[in-house]
Amino acid sequence: MIINETTNAIFTRQTVREYKKEQISKEQLETLIHAALMAPSGRNGQPCHVRFLQNADALHRMHIDFKNYVGWDTPVHTRSEKNPFYHNAPTFAFIFSQYDSNMDAGIMTENICIAAQSIGLSTCIVASVGALFESPQAADWKKYLNIPENFKFMIGICIGYPDEKPEQKPRFIDRIEVIE
Ligand SMILES: Cc1cc2nc3c(=O)[nH]c(=O)nc-3n(C[C@H](O)[C@H](O)[C@H](O)COP(=O)(O)O)c2cc1C
Repeated sequence: MIINETTNAIFTRQTVREYKKEQISKEQLETLIHAALMAPSGRNGQPCHVRFLQNADALHRMHIDFKNYVGWDTPVHTRSEKNPFYHNAPTFAFIFSQYDSNMDAGIMTENICIAAQSIGLSTCIVASVGALFESPQAADWKKYLNIPENFKFMIGICIGYPDEKPEQKPRFIDRIEVIE
């Protein structure tokens, strides 16, 4: 196997759900913005619009609206018993798309996650918050995020300095075959 800076970032990235309070630096943010921008997209359509939210109060209010909508007794919607959907990360990236393009959004997401890993940050990809953009508050939050109402929420990403080191999750090697 070849280990270099890029493969090392891919091989060591893992979901983190505990973050330090310290905000990421401007230079780190700029790097993640560029990583998002440089993601490939079908026919270079670039349908994804990203909002890096760094306002703790707004994130908390989103959490309240989200839980009021999905229910406070539904930890499955946050994949965590104790944390809000953004796992108290200081930065949360929302990816919206002009048209249905899960693939483009997924590729952009991985670009951001791997770039983050390579500059000392950790991430958690978050689908659950999508429910907020189906709730009665969806229009208000899209307005706040400067996203047109007809755009579709694709995925979110927690970003920050890790405050935990989880075990690497197992992978099923039998999912991959080489046919010669
Ligand atoms: C499409 C997608 C959606 C996810 N949604 C959530 C989520 O809503 N909340 C959460 O805490 N983790 C979420 N995760 C994180 C996964 O649980 C995690 O990637 C998986 O358990 C593998 O662990 P690893 O990333 O450490 O390899 C999501 C991951 C992906 C790829």
